[in-house]
Amino acid sequence: MAGFGGTVDDFSKAFMSTPTAYSSIVITNPDLPPPASASTREEENEGLLDNSSYKVDHLHVSQFPAGQQTQLARNQTLEPPKPLQEQLFLKRGDIIGRGSFGTVYRCLDLKTGRMLADKEFVFETGVADQQIANAEREIQIMQNLKHPNIVMYMGCQRDGNTLDVFQEFVTGGSIARLLSNFGVFPEPLAQVYTHQILEGLAYLHDHKIVHRDIKSANCLVAGEGIVKLADFGCSKTIETVMSSGQGCATLCGTPHYMAPEVIRQQRNVGRRSDIWSLGCTVIEMITGKPPYADIKNATACIFKIASTNETPPIPNFCSQELTDFLRRCFVRDPLKRATARELLQHPFLSRTYDEDWYTREIPELA
Ligand SMILES: Nc1ncnc2c1ncn2[C@@H]1O[C@H](COP(=O)(O)OP(=O)(O)OP(=O)(O)O)[C@@H](O)[C@H]1O
Ligand SMILES: [Mg+2]
Repeated sequence: MAGFGGTVDDFSKAFMSTPTAYSSIVITNPDLPPPASASTREEENEGLLDNSSYKVDHLHVSQFPAGQQTQLARNQTLEPPKPLQEQLFLKRGDIIGRGSFGTVYRCLDLKTGRMLADKEFVFETGVADQQIANAEREIQIMQNLKHPNIVMYMGCQRDGNTLDVFQEFVTGGSIARLLSNFGVFPEPLAQVYTHQILEGLAYLHDHKIVHRDIKSANCLVAGEGIVKLADFGCSKTIETVMSSGQGCATLCGTPHYMAPEVIRQQRNVGRRSDIWSLGCTVIEMITGKPPYADIKNATACIFKIASTNETPPIPNFCSQELTDFLRRCFVRDPLKRATARELLQHPFLSRTYDEDWYTREIPELA
């Protein structure tokens, strides 16, 4: 079922099955950490080496000694989670979606009647307790972030090997789902969504958070057309914890959106790696597929992105402004790639479109 409330009847059906009731979920309401001040080029470059400064980097999370906070927490001088301020009484309803690592359920808050999304991760028994605790901690940190273009994290609850992450419920589903329901977007709609994705990204980047998994499935759209970024900050941590139980390498999932430096696992993975992935998501919005989608073999795709000097092809039906915007996303050297704030000033986002842009035929890609 699509992630939408529907009639009272639909609503009651969704919550009729024997629910899991969560007796108490901690909702904290801490002040926002201060955004990073306007940065010089040097500071931005240093930001690219953020692996060492905020440790959302999944490769190292398990190395924190027991009880030690992540560097994200230390650097931003965030306080530890505040004491319980509000109790939630949640009833779990139907499944909204499934990802590679978790199942997302709709929940009803019995106190207020609002809906929440509950993303449930069930870790294998072999997964170290400390690793799950680290993932939990990362998610708690994300609760400090609030912006109209990012999904709000409401809290999480651990029960043994199961971790439930409660989030704002976004009614319209993901951009991936919109694409499969409605087909490719005309360029003006891609402009509207891209603008909002960038606003959300710029906010995360100001707070030294790298999303690390920008793709159409993680861009949710509220009924009013507001785009909200989901799964920021912690998705790679969860992925690593999940993989550790299976002895699998950390490079899981689709490589199609990954920047060359991410695949090579270089030190300069950082905020601008999200910009490459944004470019891939824009390509998907206007063509229905991310770059190199025809290369089904993950290793071949990884080779194409990381070991050649190519950049993803830009369709020739794009406006000049969009073509230039994408070129700035697909700069192979992350130090020379545009930042989110720079792209927010790009002419693509202020271009006006004639009505025929909404109806023009989009040529089949070769
Ligand atoms: N907060 C939310 N509100 C509404 N729907 C959501 C929310 N979070 C996730 N979903 C839905 O659940 C689906 C599955 O999400 P999930 O994050 O588990 O997987 P994914 O992003 O599609 O892929 P991956 O396996 O890489 O995580 C999403 O595509 C979306 O439709
Ligand atoms: Mg997701």
